[in-house]
Amino acid sequence: MKAIRVVQYGLGSIGVGVARILLDRPGFQLVGAVDVAPEKQGRDLGELLGTDPVGVVVTPDPAVAQQADVVVHATHSRLVQVEPQVLQLVACGVDVVSTCEELSYPWFHHAASARRIHEAAQEAGVTVTALGVNPGFAMDLLPVLLTAPCRHVRRLVVERRVDVRARRLPLQQKVGVGLTEEEFHTGVAAGTVGHVGLPESVAMIASALGWTVDAIADQVRPVVRAGRVEGLRQEARGLVDGEERIRLDLTMALDLEDPVDRVRVEGDPSFVAEIPGGLHGDAATCAIVANAIPLVRAAPPGLRTVLELPPLRYTG
Ligand SMILES: NC(=O)c1ccc[n+]([C@@H]2O[C@H](COP(=O)([O-])OP(=O)(O)OC[C@H]3O[C@@H](n4cnc5c(N)ncnc54)[C@H](OP(=O)(O)O)[C@@H]3O)[C@@H](O)[C@H]2O)c1
Repeated sequence: MKAIRVVQYGLGSIGVGVARILLDRPGFQLVGAVDVAPEKQGRDLGELLGTDPVGVVVTPDPAVAQQADVVVHATHSRLVQVEPQVLQLVACGVDVVSTCEELSYPWFHHAASARRIHEAAQEAGVTVTALGVNPGFAMDLLPVLLTAPCRHVRRLVVERRVDVRARRLPLQQKVGVGLTEEEFHTGVAAGTVGHVGLPESVAMIASALGWTVDAIADQVRPVVRAGRVEGLRQEARGLVDGEERIRLDLTMALDLEDPVDRVRVEGDPSFVAEIPGGLHGDAATCAIVANAIPLVRAAPPGLRTVLELPPLRYTG
């Protein structure tokens, strides 16, 4: 088998984490690394990974993607920033596996953008998929898979509780740790505070189960202790004919008791499935992306959601 040639585009903690996994896996060859951060440019990728030199020098020029079969893309969460980057990669004729939250299921909220990417990818004969732990697994794909043994599903309730105490500073900042309540709400309105992707997960679940949602509500509240924000609770709800059929309940806060990933299926049968302790977001995302690469390569051209890939699984 020929090795899959990979360019890593975006060398933050996710990009670096995926590159470390791929370096250890036979069947992958890292052939390029792209990042705009001035302090990373011109350095050997191995320096950023904390390994021996790998002979790949970080460049700001995405055209290096032309040397690859697939680009792992991990830069931003919003489609407005990511669409031009993805279209440029598609024009290079490579498959794209991205961690952009809004790209995971853009068909509900950003249909025009989704169509542009889908058509460009089909024309170029390449596949674009965005996924990670959330969106991409814990609060959409996993609950969808858990409905397989059901004769009937009335409602899905998914809960993810993450203790961010031991997590990196940018994540703590993203959930508002240290802010006043007023600063928290200003940050939410400006888009600097809050998890991106929950409404996309609702839309993805609805499409998988054949439910037409009338509306998707997304509400973010601060978790406040002793007058300071220590995190957030974010809920997204999918209404079908005015009735709540999907509820995604995400809490990310300092010193959270009983972190967990929990799915409650209400139907025939009704049951609860859970991952005690919950999945570590960054570690799981890096593994999910690495595991998805061969599956994205095998998927038909176009913008494909994680639901359209062959079953997501360990592929190492
Ligand atoms: N779906 C999921 O479950 C999931 C899970 C984890 C993360 N994510 C998302 O994945 C993305 C990456 O995460 P991260 O934690 O690694 O982010 P990060 O630490 O901000 O790293 C992103 C890197 O990409 C660089 N970059 C930005 N724009 C670029 C461009 N146009 N071309 C090349 N490089 C560019 C940034 O440089 P500068 O610092 O100079 O801007 C930075 O080095 C984020 O949007 C994050 O929210 C999704």
